[in-house]
Amino acid sequence: MRIRLIFMLLALGALCSSQAQTLRAHSPGNQMKLQVSIDAVGTPSYRVDFKGKAVILPSGLGLRTKQGELTSQFRVVGVDSTAADETWKPVWGEVREIRNNYRQLTVHLEQKMKDPVRMDIIFRVFDDGIGFRYSFPSQPNLQHFIVTGEASAFRMAGDHKAFWIPGDYETNEYPYTTSTLSSLSVTKVSKSNEIYARFIADSSSVQTPLMMKSNDGLYINLHEAALVNYPAMQLHLDKSTLTFSSALVPDAVGNMAYVQTPFATPWRTIIVAESAAGILASKIILNLNEPCKIPETSWIKPQKMVGVWWELHVGKSSWDYANASDVGANPDWSKVKPHGHHGATTANTKRYIDFAAAHGIEGVLVEGWNVGWEDWFGKWKEDVFDFVTPYPDFDVQELHRYAASKGVKLIMHHETSASVTNYERRMDDAYRFMKTNGYDAVKTGYVGYIIPRGEHHDGQWMVNHYNRVAAKTAEYQIMVDMHEPTRPTGMHRTYPNWLASEATRGNEFNGWSVGNAPEHETILPFTRVMGGPVDYTPGIFQIKLDKYGKKGFGPHTTLTKQMALYVTLYSPLQMAADLPENYEAHMDAFQFIKDVAVDWDDSRYIEAEPGDYLTIARKAKGKDSWFIGSITDENKRTSVVPLSFLDAGKTYLATIYRDGAAAHWDRNPMEYIIERFAVTGKSILKTPVVEGGGYAVSLVPATPEMLKGVKKYK
Ligand code: NOJ
Ligand code: CA
Repeated sequence: MRIRLIFMLLALGALCSSQAQTLRAHSPGNQMKLQVSIDAVGTPSYRVDFKGKAVILPSGLGLRTKQGELTSQFRVVGVDSTAADETWKPVWGEVREIRNNYRQLTVHLEQKMKDPVRMDIIFRVFDDGIGFRYSFPSQPNLQHFIVTGEASAFRMAGDHKAFWIPGDYETNEYPYTTSTLSSLSVTKVSKSNEIYARFIADSSSVQTPLMMKSNDGLYINLHEAALVNYPAMQLHLDKSTLTFSSALVPDAVGNMAYVQTPFATPWRTIIVAESAAGILASKIILNLNEPCKIPETSWIKPQKMVGVWWELHVGKSSWDYANASDVGANPDWSKVKPHGHHGATTANTKRYIDFAAAHGIEGVLVEGWNVGWEDWFGKWKEDVFDFVTPYPDFDVQELHRYAASKGVKLIMHHETSASVTNYERRMDDAYRFMKTNGYDAVKTGYVGYIIPRGEHHDGQWMVNHYNRVAAKTAEYQIMVDMHEPTRPTGMHRTYPNWLASEATRGNEFNGWSVGNAPEHETILPFTRVMGGPVDYTPGIFQIKLDKYGKKGFGPHTTLTKQMALYVTLYSPLQMAADLPENYEAHMDAFQFIKDVAVDWDDSRYIEAEPGDYLTIARKAKGKDSWFIGSITDENKRTSVVPLSFLDAGKTYLATIYRDGAAAHWDRNPMEYIIERFAVTGKSILKTPVVEGGGYAVSLVPATPEMLKGVKKYK
């Protein structure tokens, strides 16, 4: 990165005074303003304004350590101001090029005491937000140290509307609550039907990305970037002052982080925009991450997958091969009596391979292929899975041959049962086994309480594990999709083999719990997906699960809303999650899932309001085709999309997949209409969207041949 040094001034005499000092910086376009103050007792604080409106009122900064407080008694010993304006190309992404344009202010602080500690606070001021981090140069008085807390605060300028989930150390698989800050109140949700471990900090801590909307029309998002060697930051709200403070996830003994200088914390991010669309367009989180560490990336492939997966969740088949009572300790698997409804059989996997091959889907995920599934869930056992021993009815070599003959790649599944020491011990063998057998992508998972006991999914120990998995899979040229990790912070810039994470309440909750409300997917892009791609597993076509004897279960969406999610929920790895037979019943609609891209040159956020609706148009990478996805919450609406992003002078064939006139997410979710029109950049699509509905559009430059018999859009 090229950073231009603008100035380095301020006479040391002035710097060392015990007078309060104020430093200022503004963004390249001058709309974002930062003020940093060090008061007379040496306490640093900052304030942020956007276009003359207060975003963050004066708020504290600093860290707490076992060795002492790093929150006051500071003096400024130097100030650097630099700037950067560069453009870089992500390996894959929502856009082809990303501009990183900011002013940086580094405040070098030293404590006013014998054996002083030095701490730098680095601020980057962008036109759409701010990032700041603490950086500790190597120094004699601070080498190894233990972080016991962080004093970063975010004092909000009003009683904003917030979209939040509880500050749970183990999981983010919650529905969002929308409330004002003053009425924010976290209660434990019922565990019934929900399989994940929970550990809720207190009644006023929430997770990031936290999305807010102010009464004076600002959209504000708080999160973090580049979470490395540090726990996730949650936010604790003091309602009397509307101030959030950083609440780090502790380890087993209550410490937050063990670090060694030189060291820098993750960036704290404050993204601000006058429209909800502006939040989605922000690239601050990616820009604050380190560039790609993988020298050669041609093996990294954005892709779609199908898999032996939803049939397990709806109970058509099972992960396990036999009943636990028929297995026993150290079984001879060739003698174990199967229960007869195992999902990951060679024959069933071939069925998915055939379906993928027939429809141009690159990957086939198979869960339940390896021994251990019959007796693990909720047991907190140390050594359940070895990741290299298939069940007797899953023929690894034959499937390797068969998939290769059909041009399809199998995707490995590693459910670790959260026994992470076990996984760490076995992962080299597991990745070698994958490569030998033709797998170059793995879906990992961390269901349950972490082993070692007392560690949390969002603590430093696990953060280091997720990052280690990203780095190690990259060494083996393996792509990775993590389920149940901490929520992403833009690390996929550094490790683009880390295609996606779940880290949210995915579509699967519609299979076996109260499910996700119709508004859920309108909130996710502003919260969970701010940090990185989501493996939400969209594309359920058989909406009501009565077919599987699961009355009352199924997505709270229409069928065409499931299609829209391929565009509105960004990921370079998208699952066509339903069963082949459910797609075969709706091949006309499945065409969209076949066609939709997973890597993009451009993305336009056309209609957006968190909790209400979202419409995004994206241009396929290296192609002239565009795709639109539009979703609504429980309210119907009309979506209006000017197609002005299309190339002027070209005519496109638009295929619109929309809700049927009588469709409704609950009463009639599977009625849909497919229409074809000739459109140009001057056309304005006006599309009705029913309650809990959505629509998808593909737009392809058309030859006269393609437009035969096709009407112009009016
Ligand atoms: C939870 C994951 O989200 C899901 O995709 C997976 O099937 C189960 N764990 C079993 O590993
Ligand atoms: Ca709503």
